[in-house]
Amino acid sequence: NHPFQVNKQGHLEIGGLDTTILAEKYGTPLYVYDVSIIRDNCRAFVNTFDDLGVKARVAYASKAFSSIAMLQVVKQEGLCLDVVSEGELYTALQAGFPKERIHLHGNNKSSRELSMAIEHNIGCIVVDNFYEIDLITGILEEHNKEIDVLMRVTPGIESKTHQYIMTGNEDSKFGFNLQNGQADEAFKLLHNHKSIRFKGLHCHIGSQIFETDRFIKATSVLFEEISKWNKLFGYTPEVLNLGGGFGIRYTKEDSPAPYQSYAEALVQAVQQHVEELNIPMPEIWIEPGRSIAGNAGITLYTIGSMKDIPGIRKYVSVDGGMTDNLRPALYQAEYEAVLANKAMDPVTNEVSIAGKCCESGDMLIWDLPVPHVDHGDILAVFSTGAYGYSMANHYNRFPNAAVVFVEKGEDKLVVKRETYQDVVTNDLSYE
Ligand code: LLP
Repeated sequence: NHPFQVNKQGHLEIGGLDTTILAEKYGTPLYVYDVSIIRDNCRAFVNTFDDLGVKARVAYASKAFSSIAMLQVVKQEGLCLDVVSEGELYTALQAGFPKERIHLHGNNKSSRELSMAIEHNIGCIVVDNFYEIDLITGILEEHNKEIDVLMRVTPGIESKTHQYIMTGNEDSKFGFNLQNGQADEAFKLLHNHKSIRFKGLHCHIGSQIFETDRFIKATSVLFEEISKWNKLFGYTPEVLNLGGGFGIRYTKEDSPAPYQSYAEALVQAVQQHVEELNIPMPEIWIEPGRSIAGNAGITLYTIGSMKDIPGIRKYVSVDGGMTDNLRPALYQAEYEAVLANKAMDPVTNEVSIAGKCCESGDMLIWDLPVPHVDHGDILAVFSTGAYGYSMANHYNRFPNAAVVFVEKGEDKLVVKRETYQDVVTNDLSYE
């Protein structure tokens, strides 16, 4: 069920290369991406809008996985880019990402971040709150500049996803609430400001969402507001940014719709409202992160110690864990995996994959069906391309793992493995 082949030796391949050879060459834990899948994912969204003849922007949400090489691939595919911090913006600039295609997000953008964005004339700032409006207008006036702005609103929609990755419900730290007049107040400030080119609205209802009807509902909520502003002020939005959050397959329980159908549903919903209101069709912007990077990446680990508690469970430990993939510990996220060097061997038992951190919660996978496991086997965990490397941390002073890109039968190191020197590089002596 994963887009990866097995070769004649019974080893898992990625992009036509033997994963066990990659593990040996670069060491483990190792993130490996099949770049052709990243490109296919980008094109699925872009082509759908093109085919529908709708003006659109597909902005990759770089929080899912940001590195210079990744952003270069996204740039080559002609996408725009969503950044949420100075660090993500800096990475984008280092990758040579066209500035006019960069959008800045965040619920607490600093004055420095906003100044950097404005100095570099990035494509758009998605304004989140009143404090930020003050900061932006101050900076714009000081530098005598203008910038494109979208206003982030909270549509008050509960999405069926983990509580930590819900963002569109009313009780959310993000955006202006629609229900209590905040959005109206912000609208007046933005709409009337001479240095702000107020382009339209943004909303993001959450992440790992499978149902297109949630997005359609969000569109309706936005249009209630637009229709009100249209009647009161003759307002017509040039842009509607409907965020990201399109779900991917982690395990057999997940059944995401094809990416095309999300884009089609959004366009259809907007078209319907636009006709009702008799206003021009706005540009549709979306911000997929996980659905671009997630299924393109796998993580390779080497199996070390094992602990059998007869009648209860067999723990099999790998050389990584919550330091390279925080999602199981943070969200009880589930993954599928295979023994990469025994990908065709018959399954004989179930084991639970433990990480190496000093923390009982550092479990990557519970009850994974596997063939007989030996020390030194290579475990390949699927769909780790989003929010794996990007949420990596240094707990227990583990250096961050390396990232390799594979394309057209060739492998290329794109993020070096950290060294222990890197880990202590900012430590200063107290002797
Ligand atoms: N746009 C906005 C405004 C967002 O807040 C997010 C994600 C996205 C786009 C991209 O969402 P995606 O298409 O990747 O679902 N660390 C969590 C996910 C947090 C997502 C936060 N915002 C995880 O590992 O599941």
